[in-house]
Amino acid sequence: MNNFKQIKLTLRFIKFERFLGSLFYSYQRDWWERQFGNPRTSEPCQEPGKLLQVEPTKRGGRFYFEQAELELCFLSSDLVQVDWKPGIPPIPYGIAHHNWSEVETKLEETASGWVVSSTALKVVITEKGSLKLQNSDGKTLREELPPQRQGEAWTHRAKLRDEEHIYGLGERAASLDLRRPKSEAQRIKSYRMWHYDAGGRYSSGSDPLYLCIPVYLGLHREGSYLVFYENTYSGNVNFSDVAEAYFEGGALRYYLTAGKPAQMLENYTDLTGRSPLPPRWVFGYHQSRWGYETEEAVRETAQGFQTYDLPLSAIHLDIDCKDDFRSFTIDPDRFPKLREFNQELAAKGVRLIAIVNPGVKGDGNSKLFEEGRAQDVFCTYPNGEIVLAPVWPGMCAFPDFTNPLARHWWSRQYEYLLDLGITGFWHDMNEPGVFTLWGDATLPRPTQHSLEGRGGTHVEAHNVYGLLQAQAGYEALCEYQPEKRPFIVSRSGWAGLQRYAWTWTGDVETSWKGLRQTLPTILGMGLSGIPYTGPDIGGFKGNPSDELYLRWFQMACFLTFCRTHSANNVKPRTPWSYGETVLNIVREFLRLRYRLIPYFYTLAWEATQTGHPPIRPLFWSNVDDERLWGVEDAFFLGDALLVCPIVKKGARSRNAILPKGHWYNFWDDTLIEGGREINLEAPLEQIPLLVKAGSILPMEEGQQLILHLYTTVQGTSEGCLYSDAGDGYGKWRGDRFRLGKGENGLELIWEEQGEYCFPYQNIQLHLHGFKPQQAWVDGKEVAVQGNQVVCTRFRQVRFQG
Ligand code: NOJ
Repeated sequence: MNNFKQIKLTLRFIKFERFLGSLFYSYQRDWWERQFGNPRTSEPCQEPGKLLQVEPTKRGGRFYFEQAELELCFLSSDLVQVDWKPGIPPIPYGIAHHNWSEVETKLEETASGWVVSSTALKVVITEKGSLKLQNSDGKTLREELPPQRQGEAWTHRAKLRDEEHIYGLGERAASLDLRRPKSEAQRIKSYRMWHYDAGGRYSSGSDPLYLCIPVYLGLHREGSYLVFYENTYSGNVNFSDVAEAYFEGGALRYYLTAGKPAQMLENYTDLTGRSPLPPRWVFGYHQSRWGYETEEAVRETAQGFQTYDLPLSAIHLDIDCKDDFRSFTIDPDRFPKLREFNQELAAKGVRLIAIVNPGVKGDGNSKLFEEGRAQDVFCTYPNGEIVLAPVWPGMCAFPDFTNPLARHWWSRQYEYLLDLGITGFWHDMNEPGVFTLWGDATLPRPTQHSLEGRGGTHVEAHNVYGLLQAQAGYEALCEYQPEKRPFIVSRSGWAGLQRYAWTWTGDVETSWKGLRQTLPTILGMGLSGIPYTGPDIGGFKGNPSDELYLRWFQMACFLTFCRTHSANNVKPRTPWSYGETVLNIVREFLRLRYRLIPYFYTLAWEATQTGHPPIRPLFWSNVDDERLWGVEDAFFLGDALLVCPIVKKGARSRNAILPKGHWYNFWDDTLIEGGREINLEAPLEQIPLLVKAGSILPMEEGQQLILHLYTTVQGTSEGCLYSDAGDGYGKWRGDRFRLGKGENGLELIWEEQGEYCFPYQNIQLHLHGFKPQQAWVDGKEVAVQGNQVVCTRFRQVRFQG
């Protein structure tokens, strides 16, 4: 963005009093950065040189080159850690798994070079330091060129095949396949690794965004692999006929895995951690806006949901609730009785989520600032002065979350809001983002960080700032409310954020383009290990038309995080602000979402076991179908549901490429053959929604579990249901249902696991694609009504057509 545009944008957002702070800070930052010097040194670029010596190790081997050292270490049979030295080793902020069990590896010299192998993977190392990753069939999945080092910086290249598709890199306003923009607007030459607050509005092509992760997945005809660079330094990644990753400093450490996407995500999240099970209520609907300035405004909003008979699980409080925008405060005049108010809302099933910004107002009247200064927990300039930069409250100091003491100190601050009954936290501005009139809107590069005591600058710490704030928040919630599961939604993060927080896609622009961008962004995040995210329904800044709001809402009802949010200068964005027609359709979609909560919750439980994102691209379990590799306007919710949102103005139908197999139209039960492109109806009241034949889809209505049995022409169907108390760490249960062909009909078998009591009074079995005439529950005949049978617990149900 050019300077003039940035100044205009900043001015529109901040009041004049902040203008001076931004002006002063922008100069100050530039001054410090000039002192710090330019990272691109004039030193020559070095390759590793010739291989001199090889040494076997327990899990692989060590290779000494003239100018570099390489270590290959198999953590498991299909996960290899690759270390190129020299360089400062990373602090393992992204890593969750440290003690790997033994793995058998072999090191041998062959005609093509040295080979380190396990039962699943092989890495071939040549004399000059190029590497080949092969699977056990000997197929080459990735070919790396010898890395190059210039000063402290590493550049790493790998060849890409013509047809190769690339996904990931965290949050990107790009096409799903990062190599092939779907529109000119999505064309990004180089993906930056440097979290960035796009300043109130972004659209396709804005890069970077708030949450960059140096992980990507390559898919081509020979197979697929995933690479994760454990390097937090500022950097870039770009893709042409080679994939090139550049990091300004640190050792070149990365991990390689291969296999089907599901297997690779399992391995990647085994390494970086999996999301803990969230409380069940978070899968309900969240209402938010910047602009709920008083308790009364929030009450009216909650009341509106009751009046219009719309379900609601949470309301988010933006910076309006703060006292002078200060962190961990509540304005006593505008929110005078927050504790009682929270109780009043809780009685209606609504929780409050409060925003927390990392900037601490840097003045002598701030207790928090004085306490932090006394404990020496703020980021400083190289001369020891606290860095003060402008954000909402004015000039702010920034806790150094890379300092364990600072994390601990920060953790203690949540208690006050928890005591007032706040249920969850919304970490904003934690790239960290600050107000500037030009240049980078964050802390100066030479800002000093503890980095667990070993010291370093913001160039290394910037990308983990939000991740470590999330860790501090998560630990606070675990400590102060051990009986509850934490809920934090964080704008920034890094590899491993999934262990602590959800995220959202930030200030996306209010436009059809913004809506279209949401899906590839979310799918890319899922493939980067972040399972829970969602957009501001309707976009952040601007007033969506009725149609745009409605289409956005319809899509979001099938995403994990379903929240409306908007800027403070736009019209109220509640379902009833759009007139009767929209309101009625939104109500139907919200009800459908709530009926689907058992399915969402089961997927969340699966994510704790596997790291599989609930929102998946169409190629997820269909990698052989190349037509699906670039689809970014449809997605799977779990294995059962294929959602085709409407992302074009005026569209009342759309084309969709269906994966192989059979699909039921959710709305009318028509059975459709897959493996081809078809046109699907999309009147305003619907978006195309398909169910994979063979799915058992659990839904609920009040005390009734509704098992939708989508029969297949052949074979069996399976479905799973996870239940527990919805929060806390008590008993749980897993119910597995299997539908297969029995004598003259169908047979449904139920297997139970776990100790939590079955939470439903009765069960409705709803058959799709099969018309039962008679049914028997554990041998006893029961009434059949249309396609349905209502029963209680059973072991076996038989249906006869
Ligand atoms: C920026 C966030 O992205 C947005 O969601 C929030 O409303 C504003 N900050 C104000 O807090």
